[in-house]
Amino acid sequence: MNIEGLKRFKQSGEKMTCLTAYDASFSSVFDACGIDIILIGDSLGNVIQGGKNTLDVSMDDMVYHTQAVAKGVQNALRIADMPYQSYTNVEQTLTNAKRLITAGAQMVKFEGGCEHEASFKILQDNGIPVCGHLGLQPQSVIEMGGYKVQGRDKQSADRIIKDALALTSWDVKAIVLECIPAELAKQISQSLSIPTIGIGAGVDCDGQVLVSYDMLGIHVGHVSKFVKNFLTDNGDVKSAVNAFIKAVKDKSFPSEQHSY
Ligand code: KIV
Repeated sequence: MNIEGLKRFKQSGEKMTCLTAYDASFSSVFDACGIDIILIGDSLGNVIQGGKNTLDVSMDDMVYHTQAVAKGVQNALRIADMPYQSYTNVEQTLTNAKRLITAGAQMVKFEGGCEHEASFKILQDNGIPVCGHLGLQPQSVIEMGGYKVQGRDKQSADRIIKDALALTSWDVKAIVLECIPAELAKQISQSLSIPTIGIGAGVDCDGQVLVSYDMLGIHVGHVSKFVKNFLTDNGDVKSAVNAFIKAVKDKSFPSEQHSY
């Protein structure tokens, strides 16, 4: 799987599968099962570091975990998150994105839309592939007033559509859509030439991502509506990952029960 592969998925209509991983052991299991994409997510701030949010995750943390994941992966596309406050100006964005690529990522992801135009463009100019992240943006949890579904009203939906179109024009290769109504995600996915990867965004996205700990039923506190534990009915980690891949590919996950 590589950047070109993203286009093939979009063209063929086959759904892409993505799980987060933070170390070599989990990533090698996910890779051996045939997962298409591994996201070294800044959700490690929650699931590894025990934080209430992702705001304390540093560039050094992301580099460390990206290096570990890269050692476990042979085939899957590796996307690494740019953490909070690591893309506030163009010089900083470029320096930090290069660190993640050097650590073993093939693409970097960061949250937000038009307000980051300069950051998207500097990476485009320097040939660093970028994945966008729209809808609920966990790094903006304070501004957003909590982990809430986005795009429910017209103004908010129009903003997400506008951002998605702008990102596409800046050569972003894929966009994560988090916690938005399934109907809005469908409209965006159908109108873009690049793939969308949904989490809490309904079955019509071009792919699906889950935080691996959620998918394995390892939760502390609140469990979001879009989460499904694939371990309970499947016995072991490999079988759970295979079940997640199968359910995404045959479009049985996410069901309406897991969508907004
Ligand atoms: O950090 C992460 O795990 C993410 C997913 C929620 C998409 O960005």
